[in-house]
Amino acid sequence: MQNKKRRELLIGASAIAGASMLPSIAFAQSAKLRVGLMLPYTGTYAQLGTAIENGLKLALDQSGGKFGGREVDFFKVDDESDPAKATENANRLITRDKVDVLIGSVHSGVAMGMLKVAKESGTLMLIPNAGADAATGALCTPNVFRTSFSNWQPVHPLGKVMVDKGHKKAVFITWKYAAGEESLASFKEGFTAAGGTVEKALFVPFPNVEFQALLTEIASIKPDAVACFFAGGGAVKFVKDYAAAGLKDKIPLYGSGFLTEGVLAAQGEAAEGLFTTLHYADSLDNARNKAFRSAFSKAYKVEPDVYSVQGYDTGLLLAQALDKVKGDVGNQKAIIAAMEGAVVDSPRGQWKMSKAHNPIQDIYLRRVEKGDNKVIGVAWKALEDPARGCKLG
Ligand code: PHB
Repeated sequence: MQNKKRRELLIGASAIAGASMLPSIAFAQSAKLRVGLMLPYTGTYAQLGTAIENGLKLALDQSGGKFGGREVDFFKVDDESDPAKATENANRLITRDKVDVLIGSVHSGVAMGMLKVAKESGTLMLIPNAGADAATGALCTPNVFRTSFSNWQPVHPLGKVMVDKGHKKAVFITWKYAAGEESLASFKEGFTAAGGTVEKALFVPFPNVEFQALLTEIASIKPDAVACFFAGGGAVKFVKDYAAAGLKDKIPLYGSGFLTEGVLAAQGEAAEGLFTTLHYADSLDNARNKAFRSAFSKAYKVEPDVYSVQGYDTGLLLAQALDKVKGDVGNQKAIIAAMEGAVVDSPRGQWKMSKAHNPIQDIYLRRVEKGDNKVIGVAWKALEDPARGCKLG
């Protein structure tokens, strides 16, 4: 009797010990992955946020609705492209919603606020657009990865392109915030090295679109060409205003390719013939791009753009790394190692992660032809951001 009781007690104890192990293993594999999405859903970058989300969700659908064997719950915040609200929004996603991964954002200033929170909390963060150089430069950190570009990258080859076309004196015009200022710095570097001179840099506050006074100034400076950084709704207005001011046929306009991404239909005739440089082009002739474009337009009834590609690649990267750890987000060391060694089979062409956690990728020269960003050629093969000040790797 006593023995039996003792045996029952032992069985009970081992059952309890087992119970305390089993559910946690079951939990790790069956609980949904909590993904925080901080993107702009209003304002000049609203369309960019939606394109990124749709790209990410397409990658999720294509991996059977699961990342690392786990279904996904999304926690969405409209960050309004407002850096002043970024830390509070990111903190809320981490402390209230307890997200496993933080994804965002489009605007460089917002991403820098998120980065601070991700760094302090150790939360895994993926940047699907914002190019802030410091995120994978001086402020690089093991748990933050970028799937898009650094602001230095897309415009770096543009200066040589312009000098090769005979333009030696240029004006640069942009919004006055990190993405504009860093694009200008990179353009200047490349243009000067190729023998060009930036005669003047002109700024409008973000996200203003009152360009008239500056267009008048450009007309009076009469540079050989103009280069710029604008994106989203602001890019539509700028390209239309530039043409309406009668400048398009007199002073050729160039830009980082964001100028004509997702906005060609709205820009219409005013965008025809513009040359830009970017890490993607609609007409890239590879099977991956064709399959992606057809799946995306079928799912969302709109044509994809660079932002959709970046969202898609964020999903591909997450799927790759979480599959390696079988969905165990607690194993951050292994996730980071998987992401550091990642090669992403992207519609933009295969790219690999740099030591500073930024894509090493081809930059294409494109020209707007009949409402499409046509590839003219590769402006720079496998361009890697210099990652100034980053001590990783
Ligand atoms: C940025 O703020 O880093 C940014 C925003 C929109 C773009 C590119 C960069 O298209």
